[in-house]
Amino acid sequence: MVEISTSILSVKKGEENKTIFALEAGKTDYFHIDVMDGKFVPKNTYDKMFEYSSYIKRISNLPLDVHLMVENVRKAVDDFVAVEPNIITFHLEACKDKEEVHDLIKYIKENNCKVGIAIKPNTKIEDVYEFLPYIHMCLVMTVEPGKGGQTLIKETLEKIKELKNYIDENKIEIDIEADGGINLATVDDVKKAGANILVSGTAILMAKDYKVIIDELRK
Ligand code: DX5
Ligand code: ZN
Repeated sequence: MVEISTSILSVKKGEENKTIFALEAGKTDYFHIDVMDGKFVPKNTYDKMFEYSSYIKRISNLPLDVHLMVENVRKAVDDFVAVEPNIITFHLEACKDKEEVHDLIKYIKENNCKVGIAIKPNTKIEDVYEFLPYIHMCLVMTVEPGKGGQTLIKETLEKIKELKNYIDENKIEIDIEADGGINLATVDDVKKAGANILVSGTAILMAKDYKVIIDELRK
Protein backbone atom coordinates (compact mmCIF):
# COMPACT_ATOMS: atom_id res chain seq x y z
CA MET A 1 0.00 0.00 0.00
CA VAL A 2 1.47 3.39 -0.92
CA GLU A 3 0.98 6.66 0.96
CA ILE A 4 -0.40 9.84 -0.59
CA SER A 5 1.13 13.27 0.03
CA THR A 6 -1.17 16.00 -1.33
CA SER A 7 0.62 19.08 -2.69
CA ILE A 8 -1.19 22.25 -1.63
CA LEU A 9 0.86 24.38 -4.03
CA SER A 10 -2.12 25.43 -6.13
CA VAL A 11 -4.58 26.03 -3.28
CA LYS A 12 -5.89 29.58 -3.75
CA LYS A 13 -5.63 32.17 -1.00
CA GLY A 14 -8.91 32.28 0.88
CA GLU A 15 -9.72 28.67 0.00
CA GLU A 16 -7.03 27.12 2.20
CA ASN A 17 -9.30 26.59 5.20
CA LYS A 18 -12.00 24.58 3.44
CA THR A 19 -9.48 22.75 1.24
CA ILE A 20 -7.27 21.66 4.15
CA PHE A 21 -10.26 20.47 6.16
CA ALA A 22 -11.55 18.57 3.11
CA LEU A 23 -8.14 16.96 2.46
CA GLU A 24 -7.95 15.84 6.07
CA ALA A 25 -11.46 14.38 5.77
CA GLY A 26 -10.35 12.81 2.48
CA LYS A 27 -7.61 10.99 4.45
CA THR A 28 -4.48 12.28 2.73
CA ASP A 29 -1.47 10.77 4.54
CA TYR A 30 0.63 13.96 4.34
CA PHE A 31 0.38 17.57 3.25
CA HIS A 32 3.15 18.22 0.70
CA ILE A 33 4.48 21.76 1.14
CA ASP A 34 6.21 23.08 -1.99
CA VAL A 35 8.52 25.87 -0.82
CA MET A 36 9.96 27.87 -3.72
CA ASP A 37 12.28 30.88 -3.33
CA GLY A 38 12.10 32.44 -6.82
CA LYS A 39 15.82 31.63 -7.26
CA PHE A 40 16.23 27.83 -7.33
CA VAL A 41 12.99 27.90 -9.37
CA PRO A 42 11.29 31.00 -10.89
CA LYS A 43 8.17 30.95 -8.65
CA ASN A 44 8.20 32.26 -5.09
CA THR A 45 5.76 30.46 -2.77
CA TYR A 46 7.81 30.93 0.39
CA ASP A 47 5.48 33.09 2.46
CA LYS A 48 2.28 31.47 1.19
CA MET A 49 3.54 27.97 2.04
CA PHE A 50 4.65 29.15 5.49
CA GLU A 51 1.20 30.63 6.10
CA TYR A 52 -0.59 27.49 4.89
CA SER A 53 1.71 25.26 6.98
CA SER A 54 1.10 27.35 10.11
CA TYR A 55 -2.63 27.06 9.52
CA ILE A 56 -2.42 23.28 9.05
CA LYS A 57 -0.47 23.01 12.32
CA ARG A 58 -3.33 24.74 14.10
CA ILE A 59 -6.13 22.59 12.78
CA SER A 60 -4.65 19.20 11.88
CA ASN A 61 -2.33 16.54 13.27
CA LEU A 62 -1.46 15.22 9.81
CA PRO A 63 2.30 15.30 9.05
CA LEU A 64 3.90 17.98 6.89
CA ASP A 65 6.13 16.77 4.06
CA VAL A 66 8.19 19.91 3.27
CA HIS A 67 9.84 20.03 -0.17
CA LEU A 68 12.43 22.83 -0.30
CA MET A 69 13.09 24.17 -3.79
CA VAL A 70 15.42 26.87 -2.52
CA GLU A 71 19.06 27.93 -2.83
CA ASN A 72 19.51 28.80 0.83
CA VAL A 73 18.49 25.50 2.43
CA ARG A 74 19.80 26.32 5.91
CA LYS A 75 17.67 29.50 6.12
CA ALA A 76 14.56 27.64 4.93
CA VAL A 77 15.19 24.94 7.55
CA ASP A 78 15.46 27.65 10.22
CA ASP A 79 12.16 29.17 9.03
CA PHE A 80 10.15 25.98 8.51
CA VAL A 81 11.11 24.10 11.67
CA ALA A 82 8.64 26.49 13.30
CA VAL A 83 5.78 24.46 11.76
CA GLU A 84 7.29 21.21 13.11
CA PRO A 85 7.39 19.29 9.80
CA ASN A 86 7.60 15.50 9.83
CA ILE A 87 10.27 15.64 7.13
CA ILE A 88 12.29 18.32 5.34
CA THR A 89 13.58 17.48 1.87
CA PHE A 90 16.21 19.61 0.10
CA HIS A 91 17.58 19.43 -3.46
CA LEU A 92 20.96 17.82 -4.10
CA GLU A 93 21.41 20.42 -6.86
CA ALA A 94 21.22 23.25 -4.31
CA CYS A 95 24.42 22.01 -2.64
CA LYS A 96 27.89 23.11 -3.76
CA ASP A 97 29.64 19.93 -2.59
CA LYS A 98 29.24 16.66 -0.65
CA GLU A 99 30.31 18.27 2.58
CA GLU A 100 27.39 20.72 2.40
CA VAL A 101 25.00 17.79 1.80
CA HIS A 102 26.26 16.05 4.95
CA ASP A 103 26.15 19.31 6.93
CA LEU A 104 22.50 19.86 5.93
CA ILE A 105 21.52 16.27 6.75
CA LYS A 106 23.03 16.72 10.19
CA TYR A 107 21.46 20.18 10.66
CA ILE A 108 17.95 18.99 9.80
CA LYS A 109 18.31 16.02 12.17
CA GLU A 110 19.52 18.37 14.93
CA ASN A 111 16.21 20.21 14.41
CA ASN A 112 14.32 16.99 15.15
CA CYS A 113 13.11 16.45 11.59
CA LYS A 114 13.45 13.51 9.28
CA VAL A 115 15.58 14.25 6.20
CA GLY A 116 14.94 13.79 2.50
CA ILE A 117 17.06 14.51 -0.57
CA ALA A 118 15.33 15.46 -3.83
CA ILE A 119 16.78 15.14 -7.33
CA LYS A 120 15.68 16.82 -10.54
CA PRO A 121 14.84 14.79 -13.68
CA ASN A 122 18.27 15.36 -15.26
CA THR A 123 20.28 14.44 -12.15
CA LYS A 124 21.68 10.88 -12.24
CA ILE A 125 20.21 8.59 -9.56
CA GLU A 126 23.72 7.38 -8.67
CA ASP A 127 24.55 10.87 -7.43
CA VAL A 128 22.34 10.31 -4.36
CA TYR A 129 23.49 6.77 -3.46
CA GLU A 130 26.26 7.74 -1.05
CA PHE A 131 23.84 9.78 1.08
CA LEU A 132 21.08 7.16 1.36
CA PRO A 133 22.35 5.52 4.58
CA TYR A 134 21.96 8.88 6.37
CA ILE A 135 18.49 9.97 5.20
CA HIS A 136 14.88 8.82 5.51
CA MET A 137 13.56 9.51 2.02
CA CYS A 138 14.68 10.12 -1.57
CA LEU A 139 12.33 12.36 -3.56
CA VAL A 140 12.60 11.61 -7.28
CA MET A 141 11.11 14.52 -9.26
CA THR A 142 8.97 13.16 -12.08
CA VAL A 143 8.59 16.68 -13.51
CA GLU A 144 10.93 19.70 -13.59
CA PRO A 145 10.53 21.45 -10.22
CA GLY A 146 8.79 24.82 -10.28
CA LYS A 147 5.09 24.37 -10.86
CA GLY A 148 2.11 22.05 -10.61
CA GLY A 149 -0.02 20.64 -13.43
CA GLN A 150 2.87 19.34 -15.57
CA THR A 151 3.05 16.02 -17.45
CA LEU A 152 5.05 13.18 -15.84
CA ILE A 153 8.42 12.63 -17.55
CA LYS A 154 8.42 8.88 -18.33
CA GLU A 155 12.23 8.55 -18.29
CA THR A 156 12.24 9.39 -14.59
CA LEU A 157 10.49 6.09 -13.85
CA GLU A 158 13.73 4.26 -14.83
CA LYS A 159 15.51 6.20 -12.07
CA ILE A 160 12.92 5.09 -9.52
CA LYS A 161 13.38 1.46 -10.67
CA GLU A 162 17.17 1.71 -10.34
CA LEU A 163 16.86 3.33 -6.92
CA LYS A 164 14.46 0.62 -5.73
CA ASN A 165 16.84 -2.14 -6.91
CA TYR A 166 19.78 -0.40 -5.25
CA ILE A 167 18.09 0.01 -1.85
CA ASP A 168 16.79 -3.59 -1.94
CA GLU A 169 20.21 -5.00 -2.88
CA ASN A 170 21.95 -2.94 -0.23
CA LYS A 171 19.23 -3.46 2.40
CA ILE A 172 18.72 0.27 2.89
CA GLU A 173 15.48 1.18 4.67
CA ILE A 174 14.31 4.36 2.93
CA ASP A 175 11.13 5.82 1.45
CA ILE A 176 11.00 6.62 -2.26
CA GLU A 177 8.76 9.59 -3.00
CA ALA A 178 7.70 10.43 -6.56
CA ASP A 179 6.61 13.99 -7.20
CA GLY A 180 4.96 15.58 -10.21
CA GLY A 181 2.33 14.69 -12.79
CA ILE A 182 0.91 11.80 -10.77
CA ASN A 183 -2.75 11.04 -11.57
CA LEU A 184 -4.98 8.06 -12.32
CA ALA A 185 -3.31 7.61 -15.73
CA THR A 186 0.26 7.53 -14.42
CA VAL A 187 -0.06 6.20 -10.86
CA ASP A 188 0.25 2.48 -11.71
CA ASP A 189 3.56 2.96 -13.57
CA VAL A 190 4.92 5.00 -10.66
CA LYS A 191 3.95 2.31 -8.13
CA LYS A 192 5.36 -0.45 -10.34
CA ALA A 193 8.64 1.46 -10.57
CA GLY A 194 8.88 1.25 -6.76
CA ALA A 195 7.79 4.56 -5.22
CA ASN A 196 5.96 4.14 -1.90
CA ILE A 197 4.98 7.76 -1.27
CA LEU A 198 3.21 9.55 -4.12
CA VAL A 199 2.83 13.33 -4.31
CA SER A 200 -0.19 14.59 -6.18
CA GLY A 201 -1.52 18.14 -6.43
CA THR A 202 -3.60 18.90 -9.48
CA ALA A 203 -5.19 15.44 -9.81
CA ILE A 204 -6.47 15.59 -6.22
CA LEU A 205 -7.38 19.28 -5.97
CA MET A 206 -9.39 19.23 -9.20
CA ALA A 207 -11.41 16.20 -8.09
CA LYS A 208 -14.97 16.64 -6.82
CA ASP A 209 -14.44 14.18 -3.96
CA TYR A 210 -10.93 14.15 -2.42
CA LYS A 211 -11.52 10.85 -0.59
CA VAL A 212 -12.46 9.03 -3.80
CA ILE A 213 -9.39 10.19 -5.74
CA ILE A 214 -7.03 9.64 -2.79
CA ASP A 215 -8.36 6.10 -2.30
CA GLU A 216 -8.03 5.46 -6.06
CA LEU A 217 -4.43 6.68 -6.12
CA ARG A 218 -3.51 4.75 -2.98
CA LYS A 219 -4.94 1.34 -3.82
C1 DX5 B 1 6.61 20.84 -8.47
C2 DX5 B 1 6.24 20.35 -7.06
C3 DX5 B 1 5.24 19.23 -7.09
C4 DX5 B 1 3.93 19.62 -7.77
C5 DX5 B 1 3.00 18.44 -7.80
O1 DX5 B 1 7.74 21.68 -8.38
O2 DX5 B 1 7.39 19.91 -6.38
O3 DX5 B 1 5.00 18.82 -5.73
O4 DX5 B 1 3.33 20.68 -7.04
O5 DX5 B 1 1.81 18.88 -8.41
P1 DX5 B 1 1.15 18.07 -9.64
O6 DX5 B 1 0.60 16.81 -9.01
O7 DX5 B 1 0.08 19.01 -10.11
O8 DX5 B 1 2.22 17.79 -10.62
ZN1 ZN C 1 6.97 18.92 -4.48
